[in-house]
Amino acid sequence: MSSIGVFDSGVGGLTVVAALRRRLPGESILYLGDTARLPYGTKSADTVVRYTQRNLAFLASRGVKAIVVACNTASALALDRVETSLPVWGVIEPGAQEAARVSSGSVGILATETTIRSGAYPRALSRIRPELEVQGKACPLFVPLVEEGWEDDPVTFEIARRYLDPLLESGVDTMVLGCTHYPLLEPTIRRVTGSRIQLVSSAEEAAAHVAEDLARLGLRENSTDAAGEARVDLCMTDSASRFESMARRILGELETPPEHVNV
Ligand code: DGL
Repeated sequence: MSSIGVFDSGVGGLTVVAALRRRLPGESILYLGDTARLPYGTKSADTVVRYTQRNLAFLASRGVKAIVVACNTASALALDRVETSLPVWGVIEPGAQEAARVSSGSVGILATETTIRSGAYPRALSRIRPELEVQGKACPLFVPLVEEGWEDDPVTFEIARRYLDPLLESGVDTMVLGCTHYPLLEPTIRRVTGSRIQLVSSAEEAAAHVAEDLARLGLRENSTDAAGEARVDLCMTDSASRFESMARRILGELETPPEHVNV
């Protein structure tokens, strides 16, 4: 059976791949990281829509059976403005559903500037639980810190405090990690928030939704040999080697080196 296509602006979306692998060990995955155009989180909506459309077309041309838009920014801005005949999932709705389920009334959204400006998370949350209070916090330094490999650095802890303290002071009980890179910062974010705050990972929730929907659509790989044969193939639009090392940090050893593609 064919692969699940996953795309992100860069390598951070591999957090979604890691979550998919845990839930769907029999599925092969074709991953596209648009590393040549990263970051999406500071770009305009029209630009992100255009890039997303091209990425979907690329994955469809490689014969995937369904697509996961792992990038929160692309999910927030482009999901309802792009066309494809394949089943497509984003990460906003699953993250919002879980936050609405666990929150006792006040939710903080941590995401890129563009995702926060789009209002996609508050809209999704208010459709599910209109009475929820929702506050967004753009955390633009988090992505470069993760890419530098500084997830567990005192500098990152200080920056996390600067971003999160106002949310904690205003009484949020739940925070959504609404960006591909943020699950890698979870231990640092947890040290800032303490244990009383619920942390919701959009990556983990999206993987759970995809697993359920694939089964419902009859697209799930059921062969018992599949887990042994399943593979992850990586494509990147830029060939920079730092992305390869970050991919290793998230996925462990890679089956094949990333393929450099033009999209
Ligand atoms: N993938 C983006 C997101 O989840 C973060 C990196 C970027 O800004 O492109 O919003």
